Amino acid sequence: MSSDNKTEKKIVIALDGFSSCGKSTFAKSIAARLGYIFIDTGAMYRAVTLYALQNGAINDGEVDESRVIALLDEVEISFRFNPERGASDIYINGHYAEDEIRTIEVSNCVSSVSSIREVREKLVAMQQQMGRCRGVVMDGRDIGTVVFPDAELKIFMTADKRVRAERRYAELKAKGDDVTLEEILENVISRDEADMTRAISPLRRAEDAIELDNSSMSVDEQMAWFMERYEAVINK
Ligand code: DC
Repeated sequence: MSSDNKTEKKIVIALDGFSSCGKSTFAKSIAARLGYIFIDTGAMYRAVTLYALQNGAINDGEVDESRVIALLDEVEISFRFNPERGASDIYINGHYAEDEIRTIEVSNCVSSVSSIREVREKLVAMQQQMGRCRGVVMDGRDIGTVVFPDAELKIFMTADKRVRAERRYAELKAKGDDVTLEEILENVISRDEADMTRAISPLRRAEDAIELDNSSMSVDEQMAWFMERYEAVINK
């Protein structure tokens, strides 16, 4: 293959793994490096959860499945590129929602909402549509197994639970959220459990995914690790 063909060849990069592993940060830098579109599918599940919270489908942490399903037709999710962040912000029915979807309240309910079949069907269809022309880095839990089982490069990210909780804690504290490390650790553990044991599209490593444990890796080391694998796929 000529070098021109190599640079033109666009692939799908599926980045799955546990919550707070730094998937989004990693995906964002990969996308910037390759000129690809970065799609944060967790943000989409969070957006539906936020909308459900705002519209009475979740009360005292109890998710009313049939009410969430009834809301699906009226919730329109879109992304708009934000050059300052170097990534796209999420909008719900045209309203900016990037900050609100990251609160602990949303984090505590998102596993239940993302286990609803109808929610997954709607969001998976949207994700497949967004990646139809390839040239995307998509981060989530089921990208390599369900959304793009034919992705040319699949990475499964893991990191130590406490390291992950500390990262998320620092992020939320920096934003001024009043949270404790223990609360975050509990959320990380319960979301792992819920993500791995749900009946539909549970979090699992695709057989052909390469594992990346980034507990003690710098951002530069992760990028070097990635570029080696990417080149191998492109030059195949
Ligand atoms: O990546 P995140 O922590 O922002 O994701 C939020 C939640 O959404 C997570 O607890 C599991 C769910 N999720 C999912 O079920 N499938 C995806 N492809 C992405 C996220």
